[in-house]
Amino acid sequence: MDIRSVTHVKNVYPSAGGAAVTIIDQTLLPNEVKYIELASAEALYEAIKLLRVRGAPAIGICAGFGMAALARGIDADGEDFVREFERLADYLNSSRPTAVNLSWALKRMCSVARAVSALPRAERIAALDREAQAIQDEDIDMCRRISEYGLSLLHDGAGVLTHCNAGPLATSRYGTALGPLFLGRERGMNFHVFSDETRPLLQGARLTSYELHAAGIDITLICDNMASIVMKNGWIDACLVGCDRIAANGDAANKIGTSGVAILAKHYGIPFYVLGPTSTIDMDCPSGDDIEIELRDPEEIAEKFYSKRMAPEGVKCYNPAFDVTDHSLITGIVTEHGILRPPFDVSLRGLFNQKR
Ligand code: MRU
Repeated sequence: MDIRSVTHVKNVYPSAGGAAVTIIDQTLLPNEVKYIELASAEALYEAIKLLRVRGAPAIGICAGFGMAALARGIDADGEDFVREFERLADYLNSSRPTAVNLSWALKRMCSVARAVSALPRAERIAALDREAQAIQDEDIDMCRRISEYGLSLLHDGAGVLTHCNAGPLATSRYGTALGPLFLGRERGMNFHVFSDETRPLLQGARLTSYELHAAGIDITLICDNMASIVMKNGWIDACLVGCDRIAANGDAANKIGTSGVAILAKHYGIPFYVLGPTSTIDMDCPSGDDIEIELRDPEEIAEKFYSKRMAPEGVKCYNPAFDVTDHSLITGIVTEHGILRPPFDVSLRGLFNQKR
């Protein structure tokens, strides 16, 4: 398969006329590639909550196009328009708490809505469409640049371990943690990638191995508890993972299980890199302790993906969707502006001061 058909797939985009958002329903992958339209606030909320669209940048992009679509249905002007727009944005924002990209994109849309609220309706909608498109276009550019920086950390033939899915499906193109692998492959490089299956929702099995396999990249799927043995065997030169929120001290929230991978990597002396756009960095969040961790339905552990229930009825389950990797375990944070090194409180502050 042509690698471009994988990396260039857009999994979130506005439908014709812009009154709905079209996404690939990721819950059906890898067995079925189905596009669905989200035309109401409830449908958008449900799609984000149930991970039909998922991955920190992708949910931000979906929310951006979603708000532009919803604006068409607001029958009000001026302050009333803004009030209703913000109410809908708050509702979407409550769908998932951990990935900062969601609130970041919604804030951008709300500030445009406020700025254009006095304009005629058609101009208002056009401005919101432009902002949503800008969020996606910027993401494509950020992912491409992250991929370049990330690739500079890998040699031809490198063994790479990744967790969850931070590829094109989670962003808009290339991805973050998987971006260097796609870019390297385009340039004729080879990698041996190990993907944790990523219990309980199997983003590694269903999505990462799907994307990498389709692109002709050597991919081996392992259960989460096999990461230690592949590291001990000497098969891993670097761990590459995505992120949902990076705090000002460099602590990084990502899919549950990521911090365990980082602890193992430290033990085996393997570099552990977190890759993400600056839209995932939350300088208002001092440390990982301040990141809200989403708790999900216990049934995802006990029943989902089994042909019959695999835990006694009524047994207690704890199902946090994310964990926080302590900054002391991270070798580098790869952003679209370059590779940040410890101490991360200093390098992150430097990056944001520069951006101002
Ligand atoms: O619950 P998910 O599947 O949305 O979790 C996604 C992750 O943890 C990704 O690694 C993260 O969002 C980065 S995507 C570029």
